[in-house]
Amino acid sequence: MISVAIDGPAGAGKSTIARAAAKELGFLYADTGALYRAVACYMMSRVDPADPSAVVPLLDEVSVELKFAEGEQRVFLNGEDVSDRIRTPEVSVHASEVSQIPQVRQFLFSLQQDLAKTNSVVMDGRDIGTVVLPHAEVKIFLTADPEVRARRRFRELTEKGLEVTFEEILADVVKRDDADMHRAVSPLRQAEDAVRVDTTDCSLEESIARVIRVIREKQG
Ligand code: DC
Repeated sequence: MISVAIDGPAGAGKSTIARAAAKELGFLYADTGALYRAVACYMMSRVDPADPSAVVPLLDEVSVELKFAEGEQRVFLNGEDVSDRIRTPEVSVHASEVSQIPQVRQFLFSLQQDLAKTNSVVMDGRDIGTVVLPHAEVKIFLTADPEVRARRRFRELTEKGLEVTFEEILADVVKRDDADMHRAVSPLRQAEDAVRVDTTDCSLEESIARVIRVIREKQG
């Protein structure tokens, strides 16, 4: 089994690049942000997702699963496929909130580790190279300037028909970066042995090619 950990801030292109790299390598692609999003989805209609004392007791009612069909990941919340529902800006905000709660991270921890025990994976997230898979054969820290990341996410969401403004998305990116990097548990940071790839001035194709090159070099 080979594990490739790809971490970095929101909108750096992690999911698109990780998915393409996994396809090229014939590995499973696991998007761990979807797990936090699924938990947020459950919490937000019931309690304040930022309130640990409300969220933690409800974890007993939650079952999150990842399933793979033709290489595509689907995320299930209590048996229901929520893969599409978890992609709204509202869920993004609440996913960031629940991800700051240590019990939520613990709750999702073994699911992520087990996946890498039984499959060669490209796994993306915030703490994959530092906490979840500290012994991953390849670690990449993927980043880009906030404005560039916001522009990409804005395009992605408007293409899906969501009504959002660029200012809204930029504010959301900056806020989430701050929360992800400064939270007490498993903050977003580059692992010491990770290769940093900055995609600010790269097209998607160039970014994918760079990441695949890093993986192949590391594989030897
Ligand atoms: O990558 P994303 O935007 O789908 O992630 C949603 C939120 O989940 C994000 O605010 C940070 C959090 N997250 C995390 O804390 N650890 C991970 N491994 C993946 C995501």
